[in-house]
Amino acid sequence: MELLYKTTLIAHLFCAMLFMGWGFAKLFVIAPINSTFGKDNFANLQKELSKRVWKIYPANMMVLILTGTILSTQYLTFENGIFPNNFQTMLILKGLLAYGIGIKVVLSITKRLLFKIKNSQDPNPVESSSYYYIFTLGVIIVLLAKLMFLV
Ligand code: HEM
Repeated sequence: MELLYKTTLIAHLFCAMLFMGWGFAKLFVIAPINSTFGKDNFANLQKELSKRVWKIYPANMMVLILTGTILSTQYLTFENGIFPNNFQTMLILKGLLAYGIGIKVVLSITKRLLFKIKNSQDPNPVESSSYYYIFTLGVIIVLLAKLMFLV
């Protein structure tokens, strides 16, 4: 059981790294080169990145949520109410924020499937402005992940 928990935690941390890493790269590395790269070059770059992002990002998000849900089964007990202590309150808040991002990703996948059925162009997730709030939520989630053990 202990080994399963630790393995799941390592998988969770790797997925969290990938999740935050891509958000950081998109906002602080790729977006700023927009003006220096030239409009057409930048559009091609975004198109190529988009293909890779579709392959990695949704699957990573699903594993992140799944491993997080498995980990929380060790902590969440509702015998003394929903928010019996700071730890559980923060864990539930962290989980809800993460599920919110998960719902956004599922909506994007659904949109993509509908586009494919209509044979139209793939929506480009790299162009999306949602990264601003997704990354901000990610920072809050990571802070909650640490704070819940400290407060
Ligand atoms: C955007 C999604 C998520 C990110 C970025 C994220 C990030 C993290 C990080 C960085 C830790 C490590 C804390 C430590 O150092 O011990 C952690 C732990 C944890 N996460 Fe997540 N998480 C996410 C989603 C979820 C979800 C959906 C749940 C479940 C509802 C969850 C439940 C947990 C639990 C229970 C731990 C404590 C594990 C432990 O340290 O023993 N996480 N998370």
